[in-house]
Amino acid sequence: MSQAQPPTEPTSDVTRRRFLALLVHGGWAAALGVLVYQIGRFLGAEGLTSGPSPLVAAGKLADFPPDSTTYVPEARAWVQHEAAALTALDAVCPHLGCLVQQKEGDSGFRCPCHGSEFGVNGELERGPAERPLRQLEIQTRPDDTVTIRTT
Ligand code: FES
Repeated sequence: MSQAQPPTEPTSDVTRRRFLALLVHGGWAAALGVLVYQIGRFLGAEGLTSGPSPLVAAGKLADFPPDSTTYVPEARAWVQHEAAALTALDAVCPHLGCLVQQKEGDSGFRCPCHGSEFGVNGELERGPAERPLRQLEIQTRPDDTVTIRTT
């Protein structure tokens, strides 16, 4: 009469099962991390963006004569030099992202895509856009270089 041996699981099955469990749990943890990161970015959490906003060199101060409005393609911005001050408006329409054009007679801006209109200071005059043009930070450095912060 032979003695009964307790059933044993093959060690290769246990290893494979544990490996698959680790793989599944690791996948879920990675997916959760990506989800939390994306929600944080969507909500604009500080510290999730990398580095300072990009600065674009827009040219020299002499490139923007007094009482002028100049388009700077590198920054996708309209730079105005009025009353001895430079201001910059984002040329990207807040409706769906087309580039706004200057209206005739320097009377503001118009979007060629769906007809939104903005005043000379970027204020919303006519939709479908629901927000004004964004004011961008603009600086003149001691060497007369003009820079625009685009985001
Ligand atoms: S993208 Fe400018 S009005 Fe629609």
